[in-house]
Amino acid sequence: MTATARKEAPMNSLTSSLQTELDAMAKAGTLKKFRHIAGPMDTEVDMKETGHALVLSSNNYLGFSNHPEVIEAGVAALKKYGAGTASVRFICGTFTIHDEIEAAIAKMHRTEAALTYVSCWAANTGLMPAIAGAEDVLISDALNHASLIDGCRMSKAKRHIYPHSDMAVLEEKLKESQGARRIFIVTDGVFSMEGTIAKLPEIVALARQYNAAIILDDSHGVGVMGKHGRGTAEHFGLEHEIDIYTGTLGKALGGAAGGYVAASNAVIEYLNQTSRPQLFSNALPATIAASAMKAIEIMEREPERVAHLHAITKRMRDGLKARGFKPLEGPSAIVPIIVGETAFAIKMSQELLGEGIFITGFGYPVVPEGTARLRIQMCATLTDAQVDAALEKFEKVGKKLGVI
Ligand SMILES: Cc1ncc(COP(=O)(O)O)c(C=O)c1O
Repeated sequence: MTATARKEAPMNSLTSSLQTELDAMAKAGTLKKFRHIAGPMDTEVDMKETGHALVLSSNNYLGFSNHPEVIEAGVAALKKYGAGTASVRFICGTFTIHDEIEAAIAKMHRTEAALTYVSCWAANTGLMPAIAGAEDVLISDALNHASLIDGCRMSKAKRHIYPHSDMAVLEEKLKESQGARRIFIVTDGVFSMEGTIAKLPEIVALARQYNAAIILDDSHGVGVMGKHGRGTAEHFGLEHEIDIYTGTLGKALGGAAGGYVAASNAVIEYLNQTSRPQLFSNALPATIAASAMKAIEIMEREPERVAHLHAITKRMRDGLKARGFKPLEGPSAIVPIIVGETAFAIKMSQELLGEGIFITGFGYPVVPEGTARLRIQMCATLTDAQVDAALEKFEKVGKKLGVI
């Protein structure tokens, strides 16, 4: 059938049923608006719909996505290795750059080894089904990222969910699970919609008491938490207590894509042998591996970046509170402001964009009904002047919409 014939055909039942749902979302004001950016991600971008905008909605925590050295490293790797392996690693081989980035990630997390995936989504959904089987138990925080939830669902293990950071219920579930072959506690380091962090000291103590292994996804913690940006475990001084780290290269560490698992040699070798996205999906592109390696190198070389991220986040929090906003408390670089209904969050984000401030509004089903929010995310290359200008716009829009 030609493209023209397709266009002229009457809507089939699939198309019309999906369109009905989309129309309902549009009517409810919950349809997401996709923005288009005509250049690199940075603190200021050229947005196709509205022109120049200050970005407070990116995971570019350390400002590496448009860093000259990070870009240069990617270009050099592209020239050295070409576009990719053109197959999965066990069939076609591993590039030297993969060995190098995996060594750098393992060093960063103080683990014996690491293994990269094309995303942290692939890492999480490749990890849990591989290491947790029918004889095992996964105990997962209710606010964990969707990829951890899906990873748990894809495993044949028994699953328990504990209310967000509720250590009493976690302990109950650990007690119930005694006798299982393997028990895992699965948690985000930084919870992406709240900006709160996992209660790692308690989790570590419970894990040791009940012989459980900890899986920590620190996608929003690396680059942000701890004096050196090594993440939530560094923040608590518990780096050697975490059995398995997962994380992304698509946020603080360059921002392109890519994910990883960092753990003992045995865990990593087991994943090499059995993890399905590892066995049946291509390797991380060399250009991303090299950019992420450079990002880790700069993060180690310039700890002042992390220090500035902490300082500028405090400036934003204090400024919001001084203007009457009530951001959720938390030590990360995520500053959420709960505004209620999804449609209202989207409206507020549109008003802010009209003022040149780019922040996405999150609503149901990403967060529970009635707790829609604007999620501000900070970047180490934001200046005091940029933050102060943003605060003025928040005040203007907040007053206009009756939020403050
Ligand atoms: C906690 C957490 N884990 C995993 C992911 C997925 O990361 P990636 O984009 O590398 O698939 C995200 C991304 O939003 C995340 O916030």
